Amino acid sequence: MFDFTTTATDKPTLYAELNDSLRALVAGEPDPVANMANAAALIFHGLPDLNWAGFYRNVDGELVLGPFQGKAACIRIPFGSGVCGAAAATLKVQRVADVHAFPGHIACDAASRSELVVPLVGADGRLIAVLDLDSPLPSRFDAEDEAGCVVLAQVLTAALAA
Ligand code: SME
Repeated sequence: MFDFTTTATDKPTLYAELNDSLRALVAGEPDPVANMANAAALIFHGLPDLNWAGFYRNVDGELVLGPFQGKAACIRIPFGSGVCGAAAATLKVQRVADVHAFPGHIACDAASRSELVVPLVGADGRLIAVLDLDSPLPSRFDAEDEAGCVVLAQVLTAALAA
């Protein structure tokens, strides 16, 4: 079992440590399910105040549930639908302070109040998956979380494309 512990008192340090751990976890492992599963567990247990962390994969132009931690969730999300679908359609990070104010938000877990979705885009510009983080706290994610999670997504994308 891999136990992530940190003494970081600021987010950049925490994300730097998480990214080092993710690099170590995916090193030499080509299986995408294994790598997404370990990434979901690392993030869910490594970041405070999350109720869901995981992946939706691009399967023939539709988002399909991948490895995650949290409550059982909706399985299929069309591009353009909800926060994950917006990230998939635009290939842009979606950082939503209040999911209730987001048009078309899909409430998989009623506890979710804020959300951060980061697209994983391959070298060919094609969407591989989205990383979806949900929090029961409003405005849980700030610019430092976004920057840290973008790096997590890059580390994982490199492993998935290897
Ligand atoms: N809330 C997301 C759906 C996925 S769940 O949160 C796990 C959305 O609106 O895309």
